[in-house]
Amino acid sequence: MRVLIIGSGGREHALSWKVARSGKAEKIYCAPGNGGTAQEGENIPLKDSDVAGLVSFAKGNVIDFVIPGPELPLTLGVVDAMTQAGIRCFGPSQWCAQLEGSKAFAKDIMQKAGVPTAACGVFTELEAAKSFVEEKGAPIVIKADGLAAGKGVVVAQTKEEALEALDQIMGGVFGAAGSRVVIEEFLVGEEVSLLAFCDGKTALPLPSAQDHKAVFDGDTGPNTGGMGAYSPAPIVPDAELEKMADIAIRPILAEMARQGHPFTGILYAGLMMTKDGPKVLEYNVRFGDPECEPLLMRLESDLLEIMDACIDVRLDEVKLSIRPESALGVVIAAEGYPGSYPKGMEIKGIDAVDALPDTKVFQAGTKREGSRTLSSGGRVLCVTALGKGLAEAQKRAYEAVAKIDMEKSQHRSDIGAKGLRRL
Ligand code: AMP
Ligand code: GLY
Repeated sequence: MRVLIIGSGGREHALSWKVARSGKAEKIYCAPGNGGTAQEGENIPLKDSDVAGLVSFAKGNVIDFVIPGPELPLTLGVVDAMTQAGIRCFGPSQWCAQLEGSKAFAKDIMQKAGVPTAACGVFTELEAAKSFVEEKGAPIVIKADGLAAGKGVVVAQTKEEALEALDQIMGGVFGAAGSRVVIEEFLVGEEVSLLAFCDGKTALPLPSAQDHKAVFDGDTGPNTGGMGAYSPAPIVPDAELEKMADIAIRPILAEMARQGHPFTGILYAGLMMTKDGPKVLEYNVRFGDPECEPLLMRLESDLLEIMDACIDVRLDEVKLSIRPESALGVVIAAEGYPGSYPKGMEIKGIDAVDALPDTKVFQAGTKREGSRTLSSGGRVLCVTALGKGLAEAQKRAYEAVAKIDMEKSQHRSDIGAKGLRRL
């Protein structure tokens, strides 16, 4: 198969690395890709948002199979456009991608499907939104309805903070994404990610994973795209996966099918494990980044075969084969991220780490320049290792991190610590 992967993060490097290990892949393209995807195939200078350009490339280059990594092309309808052009594309339709593209849409589907989630109000008028905050008090959570590059959620500890967030969001800092807001009850608990392959009818959950969104150790500092992840997360052991999928994934598939739009692709539930049981914070309609990196290191099955089965609605015939080890990935970011950060730092040591058994450097914001690899983004690498149990995976991943040499870099030193405290 000739495969096109869309995106340029650590997730897309992991996807291209895994696809390259499928017996079925003849040639891999990645648009726009990064220094890592360039090792697995050929990078194509097309943006992930350029749906027309991507379809035209796929047609012109006889692409058989397309895998969009990020949410943007999915919410722009890349699956519909590729399918119309006769090209197989793994992911949800534009209608289904609203689950991630609109928080109000997701809340509505959750309520109809009977999925446990935080109580909320949805507002398009600033004054009504403010009255709701005045009535409910703090802590309270304010969410821009649309995509805001992961920055559209404010967990307000005081009423003043909440009112300020409403002024900002509804005043247009995120453009149209903030013209509608969801105001939500504040939930307390530990977060966990549950991802499942879906074919519209059947859901096959992957093992649990846990992301680390805050930039600094001890979950302090501003939120980022994710500073590291591991799988499994002890808070949701494998024995609980089916039950969790019955609570958070399968009712959504049933509701979307009932509305005439079966969901195909990866459905990712961001769960808060509260004292009253799991509650869904949000849905994503794609692999998480960095959860994808440790999860794909554990997946033994052929990724293209599973994705094929999703598109052909025969996931009920598939059994996922998962390595029993734990996997843990540590993100190395540029200093200053998620604020402004320098670029162009040379990265050394990647080959030495890749030569270690069951260890892989997934590249995110990198580019190749001659024989050198340079940083080109905020999150630069996700150094991932397998180990017998979480403690060993953590030890092996940090030993690998120590072999990477990059100036002006930062990483968290406590990825996995929360999980270890539960063991
Ligand atoms: P979301 O994009 O909806 O997952 O929100 C981003 C982050 O905000 C989550 O990962 C949580 O850490 C936090 N968050 C979102 N909703 C809530 C809530 N209802 N209660 C507490 N924290 C929340
Ligand atoms: N790791 C969280 C996300 O991909 O949205």
